[in-house]
Amino acid sequence: MEEYMEREDIIKKLESDLKNVKTKNDLQNVKAAYLGKNGIVTNLSLKMKEIPNEEKREYGKFLNLIKEEVTTKLESMESELEKNLLEEKLNEEKIDITLPSRKKLKGSIHPMTRVVEELEDLFVSMGYDVISGPEIDTDMNSFTKLNLPEGHPARDAQDTFYLDKDYLLRPHTSPAQVRTMEANKEKTPLRIVCPGKVYRRDDDATHSHQFMQFEGLVVGEDISLADLKGTLELFAKKLLGEKTNVRFRPSYFPFTEPSCEVDVTCFKCGGKGCSLCKQTGWIEVLGAGVVHPNVLRMSGYDPDKYTGFAFGPGIDRFAMFKYGITDIRQIYTNDIRFLEQFDRKDVD
Ligand code: DAH
Repeated sequence: MEEYMEREDIIKKLESDLKNVKTKNDLQNVKAAYLGKNGIVTNLSLKMKEIPNEEKREYGKFLNLIKEEVTTKLESMESELEKNLLEEKLNEEKIDITLPSRKKLKGSIHPMTRVVEELEDLFVSMGYDVISGPEIDTDMNSFTKLNLPEGHPARDAQDTFYLDKDYLLRPHTSPAQVRTMEANKEKTPLRIVCPGKVYRRDDDATHSHQFMQFEGLVVGEDISLADLKGTLELFAKKLLGEKTNVRFRPSYFPFTEPSCEVDVTCFKCGGKGCSLCKQTGWIEVLGAGVVHPNVLRMSGYDPDKYTGFAFGPGIDRFAMFKYGITDIRQIYTNDIRFLEQFDRKDVD
Protein backbone atom coordinates (compact mmCIF):
# COMPACT_ATOMS: atom_id res chain seq x y z
CA MET A 1 0.00 0.00 0.00
CA GLU A 2 2.90 2.38 0.59
CA GLU A 3 3.60 2.68 -3.07
CA TYR A 4 0.14 4.08 -3.72
CA MET A 5 -0.68 7.62 -3.06
CA GLU A 6 -2.78 8.04 0.01
CA ARG A 7 -6.41 8.90 -0.54
CA GLU A 8 -6.01 12.25 1.13
CA ASP A 9 -3.02 13.12 -1.05
CA ILE A 10 -4.95 12.34 -4.17
CA ILE A 11 -7.86 14.48 -3.10
CA LYS A 12 -5.56 17.35 -2.14
CA LYS A 13 -3.85 17.17 -5.50
CA LEU A 14 -7.21 17.11 -7.24
CA GLU A 15 -8.37 20.14 -5.28
CA SER A 16 -5.29 22.11 -6.24
CA ASP A 17 -5.62 21.02 -9.89
CA LEU A 18 -9.23 22.18 -9.87
CA LYS A 19 -8.23 25.59 -8.58
CA ASN A 20 -6.55 26.29 -11.90
CA VAL A 21 -9.55 25.28 -13.95
CA LYS A 22 -11.00 28.24 -15.87
CA THR A 23 -12.63 26.65 -18.89
CA LYS A 24 -14.44 23.49 -19.81
CA ASN A 25 -11.35 22.44 -21.66
CA ASP A 26 -9.22 22.74 -18.49
CA LEU A 27 -11.76 20.63 -16.67
CA GLN A 28 -11.67 18.02 -19.40
CA ASN A 29 -7.87 17.77 -18.96
CA VAL A 30 -8.14 17.30 -15.20
CA LYS A 31 -10.82 14.68 -15.70
CA ALA A 32 -8.51 12.79 -18.07
CA ALA A 33 -5.62 12.99 -15.57
CA TYR A 34 -7.69 11.15 -12.97
CA LEU A 35 -10.25 9.01 -14.77
CA GLY A 36 -8.76 8.81 -18.29
CA LYS A 37 -6.89 5.91 -19.82
CA ASN A 38 -3.67 6.65 -17.98
CA GLY A 39 -5.30 8.56 -15.14
CA ILE A 40 -4.38 8.28 -11.47
CA VAL A 41 -7.58 6.54 -10.44
CA THR A 42 -7.56 4.25 -13.48
CA ASN A 43 -4.05 3.14 -12.70
CA LEU A 44 -5.05 2.44 -9.14
CA SER A 45 -7.82 0.17 -10.38
CA LEU A 46 -5.39 -1.68 -12.65
CA LYS A 47 -3.23 -2.43 -9.66
CA MET A 48 -6.03 -4.56 -8.16
CA LYS A 49 -4.62 -7.71 -9.74
CA GLU A 50 -1.31 -7.29 -7.90
CA ILE A 51 -2.98 -7.01 -4.53
CA PRO A 52 -2.79 -10.14 -2.39
CA ASN A 53 -6.13 -11.86 -2.04
CA GLU A 54 -6.62 -11.08 1.64
CA GLU A 55 -6.17 -7.38 0.99
CA LYS A 56 -8.32 -7.21 -2.12
CA ARG A 57 -11.49 -6.47 -0.18
CA GLU A 58 -9.92 -3.58 1.65
CA TYR A 59 -8.37 -2.29 -1.53
CA GLY A 60 -11.68 -2.47 -3.36
CA LYS A 61 -13.31 -0.35 -0.69
CA PHE A 62 -10.51 2.20 -0.99
CA LEU A 63 -10.93 2.28 -4.76
CA ASN A 64 -14.68 2.81 -4.60
CA LEU A 65 -14.31 5.58 -2.13
CA ILE A 66 -11.69 7.41 -4.09
CA LYS A 67 -13.62 7.04 -7.35
CA GLU A 68 -16.71 8.43 -5.73
CA GLU A 69 -14.90 11.36 -4.21
CA VAL A 70 -13.07 12.25 -7.41
CA THR A 71 -16.26 12.00 -9.49
CA THR A 72 -18.23 14.15 -7.06
CA LYS A 73 -15.56 16.87 -7.04
CA LEU A 74 -15.32 16.88 -10.82
CA GLU A 75 -19.09 17.08 -11.18
CA SER A 76 -19.46 19.92 -8.76
CA MET A 77 -16.67 21.76 -10.58
CA GLU A 78 -18.55 21.22 -13.83
CA SER A 79 -21.79 22.65 -12.51
CA GLU A 80 -19.95 25.61 -11.00
CA LEU A 81 -18.30 26.30 -14.35
CA GLU A 82 -21.65 26.17 -16.11
CA LYS A 83 -23.17 28.52 -13.59
CA ASN A 84 -20.32 30.99 -14.09
CA LEU A 85 -20.61 30.83 -17.85
CA LEU A 86 -24.35 31.46 -17.68
CA GLU A 87 -23.86 34.39 -15.35
CA GLU A 88 -21.26 35.87 -17.65
CA LYS A 89 -23.61 35.52 -20.59
CA LEU A 90 -26.49 37.10 -18.72
CA ASN A 91 -24.31 40.00 -17.67
CA GLU A 92 -23.23 40.58 -21.22
CA GLU A 93 -26.84 40.55 -22.44
CA LYS A 94 -28.21 42.75 -19.72
CA ILE A 95 -31.06 44.91 -21.01
CA ASP A 96 -31.16 48.51 -19.99
CA ILE A 97 -34.85 48.99 -19.29
CA THR A 98 -34.38 52.69 -18.74
CA LEU A 99 -33.62 53.25 -22.43
CA PRO A 100 -36.51 54.88 -24.33
CA SER A 101 -38.20 52.45 -26.76
CA ARG A 102 -38.21 52.87 -30.50
CA LYS A 103 -41.34 54.53 -31.84
CA LYS A 104 -43.67 52.00 -33.43
CA LEU A 105 -44.95 53.08 -36.82
CA LYS A 106 -48.63 52.33 -37.14
CA GLY A 107 -50.33 52.21 -40.52
CA SER A 108 -53.91 53.19 -41.17
CA ILE A 109 -56.52 51.91 -43.54
CA HIS A 110 -57.20 54.19 -46.46
CA PRO A 111 -60.73 55.64 -46.40
CA MET A 112 -61.36 54.30 -49.90
CA THR A 113 -60.30 50.80 -48.89
CA ARG A 114 -62.68 50.97 -45.96
CA VAL A 115 -65.62 51.87 -48.15
CA VAL A 116 -64.73 49.09 -50.61
CA GLU A 117 -64.47 46.56 -47.77
CA GLU A 118 -67.78 47.63 -46.32
CA LEU A 119 -69.52 47.29 -49.69
CA GLU A 120 -67.88 43.95 -50.42
CA ASP A 121 -69.04 42.58 -47.06
CA LEU A 122 -72.58 43.73 -47.76
CA PHE A 123 -72.75 42.09 -51.19
CA VAL A 124 -70.98 38.92 -50.10
CA SER A 125 -73.65 38.58 -47.40
CA MET A 126 -76.22 38.63 -50.22
CA GLY A 127 -74.44 35.82 -52.09
CA TYR A 128 -72.38 37.85 -54.55
CA ASP A 129 -68.82 36.98 -55.60
CA VAL A 130 -66.19 39.72 -55.60
CA ILE A 131 -64.15 39.78 -58.79
CA SER A 132 -61.46 42.06 -60.12
CA GLY A 133 -60.76 43.06 -63.69
CA PRO A 134 -57.69 44.56 -65.34
CA GLU A 135 -57.26 48.32 -65.39
CA ILE A 136 -56.00 48.10 -68.96
CA ASP A 137 -58.75 46.52 -71.01
CA THR A 138 -59.79 46.30 -74.62
CA ASP A 139 -61.97 48.71 -76.53
CA MET A 140 -64.06 45.62 -77.34
CA ASN A 141 -64.85 44.78 -73.69
CA SER A 142 -65.20 48.38 -72.61
CA PHE A 143 -67.48 49.57 -75.42
CA THR A 144 -68.38 47.26 -78.31
CA LYS A 145 -69.67 44.36 -76.22
CA LEU A 146 -71.53 46.78 -73.97
CA ASN A 147 -73.64 47.80 -76.94
CA LEU A 148 -71.61 50.90 -77.73
CA PRO A 149 -70.57 50.30 -81.35
CA GLU A 150 -67.83 52.32 -83.00
CA GLY A 151 -68.91 55.89 -83.65
CA HIS A 152 -71.50 55.78 -80.87
CA PRO A 153 -71.66 59.27 -79.32
CA ALA A 154 -71.40 57.87 -75.78
CA ARG A 155 -67.84 56.76 -76.56
CA ASP A 156 -66.78 60.39 -76.72
CA ALA A 157 -68.63 61.19 -73.56
CA GLN A 158 -66.44 58.72 -71.69
CA ASP A 159 -63.35 60.77 -72.59
CA THR A 160 -61.12 57.78 -72.50
CA PHE A 161 -57.34 57.41 -72.21
CA TYR A 162 -56.46 55.20 -75.19
CA LEU A 163 -53.12 53.34 -75.20
CA ASP A 164 -53.51 52.40 -78.87
CA LYS A 165 -56.53 51.77 -81.03
CA ASP A 166 -57.47 48.52 -79.23
CA TYR A 167 -56.32 49.04 -75.64
CA LEU A 168 -57.31 51.65 -73.10
CA LEU A 169 -57.36 52.52 -69.41
CA ARG A 170 -60.85 51.35 -68.55
CA PRO A 171 -63.18 54.34 -68.21
CA HIS A 172 -65.67 52.31 -66.15
CA THR A 173 -65.90 48.93 -64.41
CA SER A 174 -68.64 47.74 -66.77
CA PRO A 175 -66.24 45.54 -68.82
CA ALA A 176 -66.40 43.28 -65.73
CA GLN A 177 -69.91 42.38 -66.91
CA VAL A 178 -68.59 41.16 -70.25
CA ARG A 179 -65.66 39.30 -68.70
CA THR A 180 -67.86 37.53 -66.15
CA MET A 181 -70.49 36.44 -68.64
CA GLU A 182 -67.90 35.23 -71.16
CA ALA A 183 -66.11 33.21 -68.49
CA ASN A 184 -69.35 31.55 -67.37
CA LYS A 185 -71.37 31.05 -70.60
CA GLU A 186 -74.98 30.52 -69.57
CA LYS A 187 -74.09 29.49 -66.03
CA THR A 188 -76.62 31.07 -63.70
CA PRO A 189 -77.34 32.65 -61.38
CA LEU A 190 -74.45 35.07 -61.80
CA ARG A 191 -73.99 37.51 -58.97
CA ILE A 192 -70.83 39.58 -58.96
CA VAL A 193 -69.49 42.88 -57.80
CA CYS A 194 -66.29 44.37 -59.15
CA PRO A 195 -64.64 47.24 -57.27
CA GLY A 196 -61.83 48.98 -59.08
CA LYS A 197 -60.06 52.04 -60.35
CA VAL A 198 -61.25 53.70 -63.52
CA TYR A 199 -59.73 56.52 -65.57
CA ARG A 200 -61.09 59.52 -67.45
CA ARG A 201 -59.79 62.81 -68.75
CA ASP A 202 -61.09 64.84 -65.84
CA ASP A 203 -59.35 66.74 -63.07
CA ASP A 204 -60.89 69.24 -60.65
CA ALA A 205 -62.10 69.34 -57.02
CA THR A 206 -64.96 66.93 -57.65
CA HIS A 207 -63.47 64.97 -60.56
CA SER A 208 -60.20 63.12 -60.58
CA HIS A 209 -58.63 61.47 -63.63
CA GLN A 210 -58.61 58.30 -61.54
CA PHE A 211 -61.53 57.26 -59.35
CA MET A 212 -63.30 54.20 -58.02
CA GLN A 213 -66.38 52.40 -59.25
CA PHE A 214 -68.18 49.37 -57.90
CA GLU A 215 -69.85 47.43 -60.69
CA GLY A 216 -72.61 44.97 -59.93
CA LEU A 217 -74.20 42.36 -62.18
CA VAL A 218 -76.88 39.75 -61.63
CA VAL A 219 -78.02 37.40 -64.42
CA GLY A 220 -80.50 34.58 -64.10
CA GLU A 221 -84.04 33.58 -64.95
CA ASP A 222 -86.83 36.00 -63.99
CA ILE A 223 -84.56 38.77 -62.77
CA SER A 224 -86.47 42.05 -62.95
CA LEU A 225 -86.24 45.76 -62.29
CA ALA A 226 -87.95 45.12 -58.95
CA ASP A 227 -84.95 43.01 -57.84
CA LEU A 228 -82.64 45.85 -58.81
CA LYS A 229 -84.71 48.31 -56.84
CA GLY A 230 -84.74 46.19 -53.68
CA THR A 231 -81.01 45.58 -53.91
CA LEU A 232 -80.10 49.23 -54.36
CA GLU A 233 -82.41 50.37 -51.57
CA LEU A 234 -80.69 47.98 -49.20
CA PHE A 235 -77.29 49.08 -50.46
CA ALA A 236 -78.04 52.78 -49.85
CA LYS A 237 -79.52 52.27 -46.40
CA LYS A 238 -76.72 50.00 -45.19
CA LEU A 239 -73.99 52.28 -46.46
CA LEU A 240 -75.47 55.67 -45.71
CA GLY A 241 -77.89 54.99 -42.86
CA GLU A 242 -81.40 53.63 -42.40
CA LYS A 243 -83.01 57.05 -42.89
CA THR A 244 -81.68 57.29 -46.44
CA ASN A 245 -84.36 57.36 -49.12
CA VAL A 246 -83.77 56.23 -52.67
CA ARG A 247 -85.25 57.68 -55.86
CA PHE A 248 -85.13 56.14 -59.34
CA ARG A 249 -85.15 58.43 -62.39
CA PRO A 250 -85.43 57.16 -65.96
CA SER A 251 -82.18 57.58 -67.86
CA TYR A 252 -80.20 56.19 -70.78
CA PHE A 253 -77.22 53.85 -70.90
CA PRO A 254 -76.48 51.84 -74.03
CA PHE A 255 -75.91 48.66 -72.03
CA THR A 256 -79.19 48.67 -70.11
CA GLU A 257 -82.85 48.90 -71.14
CA PRO A 258 -84.66 50.30 -69.24
CA SER A 259 -82.00 52.42 -67.56
CA CYS A 260 -82.20 54.61 -64.52
CA GLU A 261 -80.20 56.96 -62.42
CA VAL A 262 -80.48 56.59 -58.68
CA ASP A 263 -80.54 59.45 -56.19
CA VAL A 264 -80.24 59.19 -52.42
CA THR A 265 -81.26 61.63 -49.70
CA CYS A 266 -78.55 64.28 -49.51
CA PHE A 267 -75.94 63.06 -47.02
CA LYS A 268 -75.13 66.56 -45.91
CA CYS A 269 -78.52 68.09 -45.16
CA GLY A 270 -80.62 64.94 -44.81
CA GLY A 271 -82.96 66.11 -47.58
CA LYS A 272 -83.71 69.66 -46.46
CA GLY A 273 -81.71 71.27 -49.26
CA CYS A 274 -78.18 72.64 -49.12
CA SER A 275 -75.29 73.69 -51.35
CA LEU A 276 -74.10 70.10 -51.89
CA CYS A 277 -77.46 68.95 -53.29
CA LYS A 278 -78.13 72.32 -54.95
CA GLN A 279 -81.21 72.72 -52.75
CA THR A 280 -82.89 69.60 -54.20
CA GLY A 281 -82.40 67.35 -51.17
CA TRP A 282 -81.12 64.57 -53.45
CA ILE A 283 -77.72 63.40 -54.63
CA GLU A 284 -77.20 61.26 -57.68
CA VAL A 285 -75.06 58.25 -56.86
CA LEU A 286 -75.27 55.69 -59.62
CA GLY A 287 -76.46 54.47 -62.98
CA ALA A 288 -78.23 51.15 -63.29
CA GLY A 289 -80.71 49.18 -65.35
CA VAL A 290 -81.87 45.92 -66.82
CA VAL A 291 -79.12 44.34 -68.90
CA HIS A 292 -79.69 45.06 -72.60
CA PRO A 293 -80.52 41.91 -74.65
CA ASN A 294 -77.66 42.77 -77.04
CA VAL A 295 -75.16 42.71 -74.17
CA LEU A 296 -76.42 39.32 -72.99
CA ARG A 297 -76.32 37.94 -76.54
CA MET A 298 -72.81 39.25 -77.33
CA SER A 299 -71.43 37.58 -74.19
CA GLY A 300 -73.06 34.22 -74.81
CA TYR A 301 -76.36 34.39 -72.92
CA ASP A 302 -79.73 33.80 -74.60
CA PRO A 303 -81.82 36.93 -73.84
CA ASP A 304 -85.04 34.97 -74.35
CA LYS A 305 -84.10 32.77 -71.45
CA TYR A 306 -82.09 35.04 -69.19
CA THR A 307 -82.46 38.53 -67.85
CA GLY A 308 -80.32 40.55 -65.49
CA PHE A 309 -79.64 43.85 -63.86
CA ALA A 310 -76.49 45.92 -63.47
CA PHE A 311 -75.43 48.95 -61.54
CA GLY A 312 -72.29 51.06 -61.31
CA PRO A 313 -71.83 53.66 -58.60
CA GLY A 314 -68.77 55.85 -58.33
CA ILE A 315 -67.80 55.27 -54.73
CA ASP A 316 -65.37 58.14 -54.06
CA ARG A 317 -68.35 60.26 -53.10
CA PHE A 318 -69.31 57.81 -50.38
CA ALA A 319 -65.81 57.99 -48.90
CA MET A 320 -65.86 61.79 -49.16
CA PHE A 321 -69.16 61.93 -47.35
CA LYS A 322 -68.29 59.36 -44.68
CA TYR A 323 -64.92 60.87 -43.85
CA GLY A 324 -65.62 64.56 -44.51
CA ILE A 325 -63.17 64.84 -47.43
CA THR A 326 -63.72 67.98 -49.47
CA ASP A 327 -61.34 67.54 -52.41
CA ILE A 328 -61.50 64.22 -54.26
CA ARG A 329 -57.85 64.58 -55.30
CA GLN A 330 -56.80 64.15 -51.66
CA ILE A 331 -57.94 60.55 -51.86
CA TYR A 332 -55.33 59.73 -54.47
CA THR A 333 -52.29 61.88 -53.70
CA ASN A 334 -51.12 59.71 -50.77
CA ASP A 335 -50.15 62.67 -48.62
CA ILE A 336 -49.13 61.07 -45.34
CA ARG A 337 -50.57 63.97 -43.30
CA PHE A 338 -53.95 63.29 -44.85
CA LEU A 339 -53.76 59.51 -44.40
CA GLU A 340 -52.64 59.72 -40.77
CA GLN A 341 -56.02 61.12 -39.82
CA PHE A 342 -57.60 57.76 -40.55
CA ASP A 343 -56.04 55.56 -37.90
CA ARG A 344 -58.07 52.67 -36.64
CA LYS A 345 -59.64 54.21 -33.54
CA ASP A 346 -63.10 54.48 -35.07
CA VAL A 347 -63.19 50.92 -36.43
CA ASP A 348 -63.16 47.54 -34.70
N1 DAH B 1 -70.67 52.47 -66.49
C1 DAH B 1 -71.50 53.61 -66.20
C2 DAH B 1 -70.63 54.84 -66.03
O1 DAH B 1 -69.46 54.72 -65.86
C3 DAH B 1 -72.29 53.40 -64.96
C4 DAH B 1 -73.31 52.34 -65.11
C5 DAH B 1 -74.58 52.66 -65.56
C6 DAH B 1 -73.00 51.02 -64.81
C7 DAH B 1 -75.55 51.69 -65.71
C8 DAH B 1 -73.97 50.04 -64.97
C9 DAH B 1 -75.24 50.39 -65.42
O2 DAH B 1 -73.72 48.75 -64.72
O3 DAH B 1 -76.17 49.43 -65.54
O4 DAH B 1 -71.14 55.92 -66.04
